[in-house]
Amino acid sequence: MKVLILGAGGLTGRYLVREYKRRGMEAVAYTKQELDISKADIARDTLAKEKPELVINSASLTSLEICEGNPVLSRKVNCEAPEEWAKECGRDGTRFVHLSTDYIFDGKKSAAYLPGDLASPLSRYGKDKAEGEKRVLRANPHALIVRLAWVFGHGGKTFMSQLPGILAEKKVVELAGGRTGSCTYAGEASRIIFDLAEKRAEGIFHGVQAGQTTWKQFAEKAVELMKAGGRRVACEEVRELPLDKIPGLQVPRPAFSPLDISETEKVLGRKIPPWEKGLAEYLKEIGW
Ligand SMILES: NC(=O)c1ccc[n+]([C@@H]2O[C@H](COP(=O)([O-])OP(=O)(O)OC[C@H]3O[C@@H](n4cnc5c(N)ncnc54)[C@H](OP(=O)(O)O)[C@@H]3O)[C@@H](O)[C@H]2O)c1
Repeated sequence: MKVLILGAGGLTGRYLVREYKRRGMEAVAYTKQELDISKADIARDTLAKEKPELVINSASLTSLEICEGNPVLSRKVNCEAPEEWAKECGRDGTRFVHLSTDYIFDGKKSAAYLPGDLASPLSRYGKDKAEGEKRVLRANPHALIVRLAWVFGHGGKTFMSQLPGILAEKKVVELAGGRTGSCTYAGEASRIIFDLAEKRAEGIFHGVQAGQTTWKQFAEKAVELMKAGGRRVACEEVRELPLDKIPGLQVPRPAFSPLDISETEKVLGRKIPPWEKGLAEYLKEIGW
């Protein structure tokens, strides 16, 4: 099966590239510099040139703060372009996988969110991703949408990706408190995405690891695993601050956004490992 990966230079995109290589699949992967998914006619022209059987869209404007300040660009990349790719893929039966987020929810629920729960986003990013999901499925009812949350992995710009380095260096680590969510190692996310695609899943699925966490619990587990592995850890205290006291995080995020994975596990026919396993895998990968 020939696969086309969009946004291949991003955190999840790089792991998707690694995963298709591991599976020995034929594939072509484009970074943003090589292919801007929002350019006019780019979907039609690229599909005609590459003739993939499966397209995975990992391209997205993911900074909430940048999306808030650039609403036109956010709408274009997170909503209009995915719709166009979904529509063009639908024309000749090319399968289309689109990635989305837990930030389409407002966090007011008290149990993990189900794939069919109503979106009510708090941010521009969340609004455009939610609208993007709707438009993708309207344009191509056979499309597969995989929602991720709190992704971490090698070279990632996300806080959780960078946490091991911070814990190694800083005595007191301050992080955003008051938030509970799902998280996933990008390696596991890419396995789930390819597995769902191979099962020909359609509609909305959650692609996160089992269990719920907070940034503090995640940091404390990382300290435990790093120490157990004989690594140097400077951190003696992990301190939670309100979200708006953390520099660079001005846009509201849901306080509670765990994603229910029972449908995903049913379709995959396997249990998805808990996030602690993903964290251990990540620490092993980066040599901590
Ligand atoms: N990271 C998370 O914690 C997280 C959580 C939930 C859901 N997700 C979803 O997972 C997917 C993958 O995100 P990620 O974690 O890999 O984030 P990422 O590291 O920010 O990757 C997104 C990639 O898309 C690229 N991009 C931006 N605009 C583009 C355009 N017009 N054309 C082509 N590429 C473009 C970005 O390039 P630049 O960096 O140069 O802009 C970046 O390389 C997204 O759909 C995101 O919504 C991620």
